[in-house]
Amino acid sequence: MNFLEERIQKDGIVKEGNVLKVDSFLNHQMDISLFEKMGEEFKRRFANAPINKILTIEASGIGIACIVAKYFDAPVVFAKKSKSINIDGEMYVAEVESFTHKCKNQVIVSKKFLGPDDHVLIIDDFLANGCALQGLISIVSNAGGTVEGIGIAIEKGFQSGGRTIRNLGYHLESLAIVDSMDAENGTITFREQ
Ligand code: G4P
Ligand code: NA
Ligand code: NA
Repeated sequence: MNFLEERIQKDGIVKEGNVLKVDSFLNHQMDISLFEKMGEEFKRRFANAPINKILTIEASGIGIACIVAKYFDAPVVFAKKSKSINIDGEMYVAEVESFTHKCKNQVIVSKKFLGPDDHVLIIDDFLANGCALQGLISIVSNAGGTVEGIGIAIEKGFQSGGRTIRNLGYHLESLAIVDSMDAENGTITFREQ
């Protein structure tokens, strides 16, 4: 097991409905030393990519993205979730459906902060169905930029997002891939990588 898998094993809590709670170290209280290790590891896995920008989505991608960005010496842009339809042409927009929350959101990024010269590393905390990720990819593509890679902390390997994104040809690296989990006895099985 790698450092993140060990931490998930130690402090993650399996909830009913295939939900993994990691709020003591990842997406509510945040362990910055752990984030630094993640940054180092993403830097190693994407060493040969000419990354000049990190893109994430609010809320819980932001903390990780900020620490990861230090290792790439690149600024962070985060897509904002917006319910308003009042988009003025200054924004890239993507429609994102949340299966967990059963709602549709628009995510927006200002055209000022993303363009054809950008070589983007997309960062997020979770990958489940991949809707948020598909939205971010379409925003980079609308901007004429290049998705150099996608770095995820925890992929839920039993949901379809990871497979879909890899089949599209993207370089997707997940630091931990959960293949199964059991709320009754708290066991978590990770995919060998
Ligand atoms: P998708 O983007 O992969 O399609 O994910 P989905 O709609 O299924 O998930 C909606 C939200 O729930 C996402 O956060 C996602 O990160 C999070 N999520 C999915 N599975 C788990 C899980 O097992 N545990 C935890 N803790 N979170 C999970 P969000 O609501 O879009 O953003 P945020 O504001 O929480 O960052
Ligand atoms: Na989340
Ligand atoms: Na997230």
